[in-house]
Formats: sequence, structure tokens, C-alpha cells
Amino acid sequence: MIPTEIKGFLFDLDGVLVDTAVFHFQAWRRLANSLGFDFTEKENEQLKGVSRVRSLQLILQWAGVEKSEAEQEELASQKNTWYLELVHQMKKGDTLPGAEEFLQRSRDLGYLIALGSASKNARLILEKTGILSYFDAIIDGNEVSKSKPDPEVFLKGAEALGLSPQQCLVFEDAQAGIDAALAGGMRAIGIGDLAHLHGGLTVVESLREVLL
Ligand code: G6P
Ligand code: MG
Repeated sequence: MIPTEIKGFLFDLDGVLVDTAVFHFQAWRRLANSLGFDFTEKENEQLKGVSRVRSLQLILQWAGVEKSEAEQEELASQKNTWYLELVHQMKKGDTLPGAEEFLQRSRDLGYLIALGSASKNARLILEKTGILSYFDAIIDGNEVSKSKPDPEVFLKGAEALGLSPQQCLVFEDAQAGIDAALAGGMRAIGIGDLAHLHGGLTVVESLREVLL
């Protein structure tokens, strides 16, 4: 199933390896509700893979609410506090179906492994769930200046592994992430719901379905 030229895997984090996409949604809704509005699960799809500040701006835009830059910073920080309350409950083994087995098997077969996530909390989550040691390189929200669908995060991941984009395969649950991979000249496998992911790629429910 994996083409022979592929030497490395680039994993998104939230929604691919761990179920934190749900925590992001809960924390953003809590913030929206505290401001007196709400947003839908369908709208939430547009927040996946998108940076913290950009996500807030989209939520405010949907509600037709304007906030100053200072207020936006405060609101994003409040959301992160609520998000981290949920993250801190995570423990070793709290990974999505098949994720840890897939990482282990990838290592055994000699594939290089990098993280390509927009999250500034990525390292903490990898540590808490016990999968940090599988990674040869970690590119997260602290290393990138451009949000997916810009390919920066994956291009940096490929570079950190010493591979060309053509030698990398990206695993993503967000359309913005799939678009980022394709824009970087990489192949991608979608994780999740086919209805939400486009781009002529393979979509599977979880890493359990990807055969190595
Ligand atoms: C990932 C998630 C997004 C999140 C972003 C920033 O890309 O899919 O929903 O907004 O990371 O995460 P952070 O943990 O830094 O707020
Ligand atoms: Mg994701």
C-alpha cells in the first residue's frame, strides 16, 4: 500500500494520533458560549489544522463580533487554559485507534517519523500520551509562521528528516492539512470522514486501516 519511494512519514497530531480535536472543539465552544454565541460542528471542520489565533478570528467572524488585538490575545489564552484542563487529564495510551501500533511498526520497518502540527501544545501532548520517543523530528506551532494550508510545517518536517517532499507521506485529518501536503509536493492519506476530505486521496477511518 505504501509506495517504495516513501522513506518517511509526517503526522499531524490532533485528530490523527490523539483525540484532541474534540478537546479543541469543546474549548472553543466554551469560549463562544461565554461570549453569547455558538458555532456548529460543520463550521468546526474549518478550524482543524488552523492556528489558535486564526481559529479565534474565524469564530468571531462567524458571529459578526469584532475584538481588538489585545482582547483577541486574552480570549485565545482563555481558550488555551480550558483546552489544557482537558489535555492534563490525558495519560499514557490515550491515542487514537491503531496510532501507537502504527508508529511502532513504522519504526521497526525503518521509516523516519516527524510531527507536523500547528499546535503549540504538541510536545506536552506527545509526552503525556507516551509517544514522544517515536519521533525523529518535531515541527509544531512554535516553529512555523504560516498556518496550514501553507506547506511550511511539512516542508520543515521533510527537511528535518533529510528527505525530499516526494519521499514523504503525510497523515492528516484536516482539509487544510491535506492541502498543505499537496502544496508541498507530498502525498497524503486522509484520516477520518471522506465527506470532509477532498483531493483525490485515500481516506481511512483511522491508522488501524493503513497496512504497512
Ligand atoms: C492543530 C489543531 C487546531 C489548533 C491548532 C493550534 O492544528 O487542529 O484545531 O487550533 O493545532 O493548537 P494550539 O494547541 O497551539 O492551540
Ligand atoms: Mg488535525
